[in-house]
Amino acid sequence: MKRLLLSLLFAGMLLVGLVSSGGALEIVYPADGTSITRSNFVIVKAGTSPAIEGMIIELNGGRTDMIDVSSPEYKAAFGDFLILQPEFDPGENSIRVEAYAGGKKLAEAKARIWYQVDPLAPPPEGYRPFRMHTPQREALCASCHNMNPDKVELQVADATQNPCASCHKRRLNHKYVHGPAGVWRCAYCHDANGRSTRYAVRKDGDAGLCGECHAEQIRQFQSSPYVHGPVAAGLCSVCHDSHATDNPAQVLAPINDLCLACHDSVRGVPHVARGISGESHPLSGVPDPSRPGRDLSCTGCHDPHSGNSKYYFQNGIRSRFGLCGKCHRK
Ligand code: HEC
Ligand code: HEC
Ligand code: HEC
Ligand code: HEC
Ligand code: HEC
Ligand code: HEC
Ligand code: HEC
Ligand code: HEC
Repeated sequence: MKRLLLSLLFAGMLLVGLVSSGGALEIVYPADGTSITRSNFVIVKAGTSPAIEGMIIELNGGRTDMIDVSSPEYKAAFGDFLILQPEFDPGENSIRVEAYAGGKKLAEAKARIWYQVDPLAPPPEGYRPFRMHTPQREALCASCHNMNPDKVELQVADATQNPCASCHKRRLNHKYVHGPAGVWRCAYCHDANGRSTRYAVRKDGDAGLCGECHAEQIRQFQSSPYVHGPVAAGLCSVCHDSHATDNPAQVLAPINDLCLACHDSVRGVPHVARGISGESHPLSGVPDPSRPGRDLSCTGCHDPHSGNSKYYFQNGIRSRFGLCGKCHRK
């Protein structure tokens, strides 16, 4: 039997739903037939009467034990919602929820969903992107969460008070957090009255949005003699997450993985120098003498944005020879 990688978010507090007007068990997130880009939650609404006493969640064939949801404390706090933290497999996943009372199965709900690991790839055919912030879904939450915060509330930097933080605080649980996200200015970029959808990003095209606060950097990139392909195209989010990741400058993946995702041709062939026995120059796994505390990576030699040479050597270095001197002194 497959090990089930699900953990209950509210340890010790288990849910039951008695308050609702009846109706079916519902997998609110991720909804059946949708595609998501994060493995963050399973949110179930158990709106049936008689009261549900226990639930079993099955993810890709692995089952939890019966989760006892009959405590009055839980009901007071969470009403008829159950939130779990899943670990979805990349690609297709199937979720099944069974609801029990008096030892009998009363209801069952199923969802087939797609977990798209590459956040920039479109959802595959047969799946639509999941949208939480629709009037119907928001109405389910409004009795406990502030779903219509005003301008002043949206500027509160304290995570215990900010209206977006009540649900999204885990989004920032990473080592490197982007300035405005870290102070919960979510609404600076996400427009409550977004043209296409609620909380859509305010501007099309990254460089326009990023440039509102990083104008000086962008001016510097664009005025260099050689500008890196994606930067020249005004793309920032192909490399940077706007919120938080575990990599410096909130890049989407460890630097070498990030670069090699587009420059596969560099992989496995000697790069920079060929030693006597044909080995490559190291590209990782050794300290970078020019950047104390950091290991060598692609950006030890290449500026990710632009430069004065065809290969965007770091520090505006113009020649291959000049580059060697950055780390090798004789
Ligand atoms: C009956 C009250 C209630 C309702 C209704 C409710 N919630 Fe919550 N929810 C809570 C409480 C209480 C917390 C814990 C808040 C905290 O930790 O500050 C919470 C926390 C959360 C979290 C954060 C979990 C974490 O720790 O990361 C998410 C996500 C969430 N709710 C989503 C929803 C969504 C989506 C809806 C509507 C579909 C909803 N909730 C409806 C009471 C409710
Ligand atoms: C009741 C809980 C809740 C609150 C409050 C909340 N969100 Fe969400 N939001 C979710 C969930 C659940 C999702 C889907 C899962 C995910 O992306 O974490 C989501 C998704 C989103 C998305 C992706 C698009 C979509 O509709 O799915 C954006 C953007 C977003 N939220 C922004 C915000 C902002 C900005 C605020 C504060 C003004 C906010 N949210 C408040 C629960 C909430
Ligand atoms: C600097 C601008 C910026 C800020 C600040 C910001 N976001 Fe975003 N957010 C984006 C961009 C850009 C995307 C990608 C949008 C897309 O692909 O449509 C995004 C996507 C999202 C998504 C959906 C995809 C995902 O990664 O989960 C959620 C949820 C989200 N933001 C929540 C938040 C929350 C909560 C905050 C506040 C802590 C916040 N954002 C602050 C720019 C920002
Ligand atoms: C509302 C203003 C604002 C917007 C919009 C904004 N940023 Fe930032 N950004 C900041 C602040 C503030 C910091 C923290 C500055 C610091 O620590 O020096 C920061 C830091 C960064 C850093 C890390 C800098 C470092 O030295 O590690 C990166 C990378 C970054 N932003 C990229 C982006 C990208 C990409 C976008 C567009 C998707 C964007 N920013 C949009 C305000 C903004
Ligand atoms: C090809 C990937 C890539 C693209 C595209 C990209 N960046 Fe970066 N950026 C990086 C990497 C990698 C770093 C970290 C470099 C390091 O620490 O070694 C970085 C660092 C930064 C920093 C921190 C300070 C600095 O200059 O090193 C800022 C600010 C920044 N980027 C903004 C942007 C903006 C704005 C855009 C869009 C115009 C953008 N980046 C596009 C990969 C990229
Ligand atoms: C999203 C895809 C993408 C990512 C990620 C990316 N690059 Fe590029 N890179 C390009 C494109 C497109 C070009 C322009 C290709 C051309 O003009 O032939 C380019 C060109 C280059 C060149 C010049 C190559 C030449 O032959 O002139 C270097 C060097 C380079 N990238 C290094 C990097 C480094 C280092 C990283 C990681 C920080 C990186 N790239 C990440 C897409 C990417
Ligand atoms: C020690 C310095 C150094 C490191 C580290 C380094 N490069 Fe280079 N790279 C160079 C030099 C120098 C050139 C110019 C071509 C030459 O002289 O071989 C170059 C050329 C390139 C080119 C264009 C020519 C080609 O081979 O396609 C790309 C793309 C590139 N590097 C990507 C990367 C990536 C991706 C990484 C990380 C995995 C990386 N480089 C790490 C020094 C380095
Ligand atoms: C960002 C720093 C950096 C740059 C720039 C750089 N190297 Fe290196 N190089 C290293 C590191 C680190 C090692 C591994 C040293 C060790 O293992 O002790 C290394 C090792 C070497 C070696 C293997 C022999 C030795 O000393 O261990 C050769 C040959 C070499 N580099 C040549 C070059 C050439 C040629 C250039 C310019 C095109 C260059 N390097 C640019 C950091 C750099």
